[in-house]
Amino acid sequence: MKLLITGGCGFIGSNFLRYLLKKYPDYKIFNLDKLTYAGNLENLSEVEKNPNYKFIQGDICNSQLVNQILAEKIGCIINFAAESHVDRSLYDPVVFVQSNLVGAQVLLQSALQHKVSLFLQISTDEVYGPVLGNQKFNEKDSLNPSSPYAASKASADLLALSYFKSFNLPLIIVRPTNNFGPYQFPEKLIPLFISNALEDKSLPIYGDGLYVRDWLYVQDHCEVLDLILQKGKTGEIYNISSHNEKTNLEITDLILQALGKPKNLIKHVPDRPAHDRRYALDSSKLEKELGWKPKFSFEKALQETIEWYQRNRNWWERVKSGEYQKYYEKHYAYLKK
Ligand code: NAD
Ligand code: TYD
Repeated sequence: MKLLITGGCGFIGSNFLRYLLKKYPDYKIFNLDKLTYAGNLENLSEVEKNPNYKFIQGDICNSQLVNQILAEKIGCIINFAAESHVDRSLYDPVVFVQSNLVGAQVLLQSALQHKVSLFLQISTDEVYGPVLGNQKFNEKDSLNPSSPYAASKASADLLALSYFKSFNLPLIIVRPTNNFGPYQFPEKLIPLFISNALEDKSLPIYGDGLYVRDWLYVQDHCEVLDLILQKGKTGEIYNISSHNEKTNLEITDLILQALGKPKNLIKHVPDRPAHDRRYALDSSKLEKELGWKPKFSFEKALQETIEWYQRNRNWWERVKSGEYQKYYEKHYAYLKK
């Protein structure tokens, strides 16, 4: 089986790549990544010499390059590549439309041309917008994105579905909730707060801190993506939730307690514009049809994550300082020869 993973140098993509190479030693995996600020080759240093793994630096918007890769008889594309941070989308929406929508279109078109057997589009719960009252969104609910990030992902979902309906491109869309775990870029809530607390820096809570997110451990996410690749039905959308709704202040308290750091590190700062109050997904379709259940409790997963950031201080210090961007030059110089 040959697969193309896009955005494999980011947080979820790198976890999934390592997971697949370990579980399926005979898969051949291509990783197309532009290496934006969020792409870090150090996330994949343990597999870079694996003969079944090939890294290609490039943009998913480059149709010539994508066609060249798919000509290698790729069976399946898993599209993780995206600009993924809501705050950045408020300052520079253009690159979000480019990578998240135009890039998806290039991949879809190329997938059709090369007759790939499955296209897995990684979407997000943010496409539904904020949940009101005690409801949870299911896959049939309408899309109501609030940020340019969420709007670009929702647009890609609609475009992907049109490729299924119009051209029979075999595709599946997944909408996972907020992920956390090892190798997450320390601009997102959990890794930012763990690393800041370890450095005795303040933890900037937006607004009242009572915003709710539904947290999914990246290891559980990798396992369910694998299940969907094996058993998912084409043309379907699957919400992915392990039902761990927490306020940002609850998460912050758990991190401070685990690290034995004082509460006075918390600093309330002005709120994010159009900040969605609560995300919550109904993922009974996935649970009933594919029999999925997460393996990790939230408490255990958060503890493992905190310990990973404690053990891997070198990793996040290099990320925060920008040092990691020099790794490519050093380790992949031979690719340019
Ligand atoms: P990330 O920001 O950590 O990584 C994104 C990766 O994509 C980086 O390696 C980057 O270099 C690459 N990339 C960006 N633009 C590219 C382009 N034009 N061409 C090629 N590569 C490009 O993101 P993540 O957190 O790993 O998220 C992966 C996917 O999952 C995204 O599609 C995101 O929307 C979705 N998602 C993330 C979360 C989450 O909590 N992190 C939750 C739900 C859905
Ligand atoms: P984030 O990790 O950026 O994910 P998303 O916006 O995609 O859900 O943010 C998670 C929540 O944490 C969200 O409600 C915004 C909040 N937040 C803060 O309060 N302070 C911060 O510094 C960050 C990065 C996020």
